[in-house]
Amino acid sequence: MVGDIDRVLISEAALAERVTSLAAEIESAYAPAASGLTVVTVMTGAVVFLADLIRQLPCRLEIGYIAVSSYAGPVTTPGLAVAGAISLPELRDRDVLIVDDILDTGGTLRLVQTRLLEQNPRSLKTVVLLRKPGKAPADVSVDFVGFDVEDVFVVGYGLDYDGQYRNLPYIAELGSRREG
Ligand code: IMP
Ligand code: MG
Repeated sequence: MVGDIDRVLISEAALAERVTSLAAEIESAYAPAASGLTVVTVMTGAVVFLADLIRQLPCRLEIGYIAVSSYAGPVTTPGLAVAGAISLPELRDRDVLIVDDILDTGGTLRLVQTRLLEQNPRSLKTVVLLRKPGKAPADVSVDFVGFDVEDVFVVGYGLDYDGQYRNLPYIAELGSRREG
């Protein structure tokens, strides 16, 4: 599997360090409300990031998830974002934080943000681990970004190619020989 990787873009150590500083940014952006945060995970790519991030957030929080797919099968260009399974606690009047793996064309986050706003949260913010700058339209905004990355197809730390590579502990560029 490691032979499929062209180069490591973000090491395991760099990820750990940035997740810690991101958590501090997030923590200080919220008034210490007694009721805490509701974290909505975008499945499945955000699960590794989620697991590391929430363990650095000392506030009270609960977790829900929404599954969105825009890559079906062995492709590296996005199609239409489609919502799948959803499991959410009550969002009305809650401070809601969306956790996603990467902001690319913005289709995924536009869908998720629209869906969640319908439930009248008190606030809605978004954190993404990665962003490919300049690709998403201006109305799809994120509040916290871990790293800006170049516009190549990346895998690892939760991100997949055709369901694989999520378990790599670093972010890497997938070798171009994978594309048929
Ligand atoms: P968007 O809807 O185009 O912004 O794409 C966002 C979703 O597509 C992310 O949540 C990822 O699941 C997936 N995605 C976008 N770019 C990549 C990539 O380079 N590698 C793996 N998945 C990606
Ligand atoms: Mg995703």
